[in-house]
Amino acid sequence: MEIKVMPAGESERRPKPKDESKLVFGTVFSDHMFIMNYDEGRGWHDARIVPYQNLSLDPAAMVLHYGQGIFEGLKAYRASDGRILLFRPEKNWERFNKSARRMCMPEIDPAVLMQSLEALLRLDADWVPRSRGTSLYIRPTMFATEPALGVRPAKQYVYYVITGPVGPYYPEGFNPVKIYVSDEYVRAVRGGVGEAKTMGNYAASLYAAEIAKKKGYTQVLWLDAVERRYVEEVGTMNIFFRIEDTLVTPPLTGSILPGVTRESVIHLARHWGIKVEERPITIDEVIERAKDGSLKECFGTGTAAVISPVSELCYKEERVTIADGSVGEWSRKLYDELVGIQYGEKEDIFGWVREVPLDK
Ligand code: COI
Repeated sequence: MEIKVMPAGESERRPKPKDESKLVFGTVFSDHMFIMNYDEGRGWHDARIVPYQNLSLDPAAMVLHYGQGIFEGLKAYRASDGRILLFRPEKNWERFNKSARRMCMPEIDPAVLMQSLEALLRLDADWVPRSRGTSLYIRPTMFATEPALGVRPAKQYVYYVITGPVGPYYPEGFNPVKIYVSDEYVRAVRGGVGEAKTMGNYAASLYAAEIAKKKGYTQVLWLDAVERRYVEEVGTMNIFFRIEDTLVTPPLTGSILPGVTRESVIHLARHWGIKVEERPITIDEVIERAKDGSLKECFGTGTAAVISPVSELCYKEERVTIADGSVGEWSRKLYDELVGIQYGEKEDIFGWVREVPLDK
């Protein structure tokens, strides 16, 4: 695919963050963006890289009315020798196209997704931050642009990619977060769109997340929408429990986001000989095991959040501390291994890392 490149002029360049240790997630954006358009009958066309800029939209654009919009999240890491590394990007492309199918949106050839990202990263290579714990967050996005108010799949779309340097997702960093279990509101129902990375899922999560925040909690732990008993996931992460010496995480039953970090943690843990169970787990079991001491650790996983230890759960207004509330042994080990692989410091035994060719 041919990509037209229109580099930003001097006056269009954006200020780079002066202090990488102060980066707040998702607030700074790089100089350029990739963008292309889709028309039914014509397919994807006009692939281009342009200076980061506003989009112009018809007020009847279907995404604004019926929510046909999906996105992905991945990161580019700066290795100590200067190389730029991606972590399992093909998993993101696979999920992106799965989300597209579920939302009746056009798919994009993974080779095109990869080519366009690499071209963008080459141009904005200097935006990949250098300090440990920072990375360049990448947000591929697609939405319906066709101006029409009939409820049906749109015939026109835009796909674009923006990037920006980030630090930790939570202000807590790798320190434990406190999670509020919502038994009043639900995020997704089986058969719905919970496993698609579609914008509405995040809108649906905000109300309960605000309640949690007011009570002093970082995020919400969602329960299943029917019985409100089975643990599903946290706002921006999948969830794991270490019960004695077994790692337990809810299975992918259609209402949970299939996380790339989730899959990588399961793979790593099994490789280390740890027993991993993907099984339904009730919130009652979690609370009981926290109280009897057999719940040794709890942590969330996500691209943005990496591994985020959980120190406390609040369920039905009761606060329960997990183990002694500090970062658990497995959480730290998994974090160190995963981050080590992502930054090219540890051996990539599973072939997960892709170096971005910078001199094409
Ligand atoms: C990610 O982990 O990349 C996500 O997309 C979660 C979130 C920041 C929406």
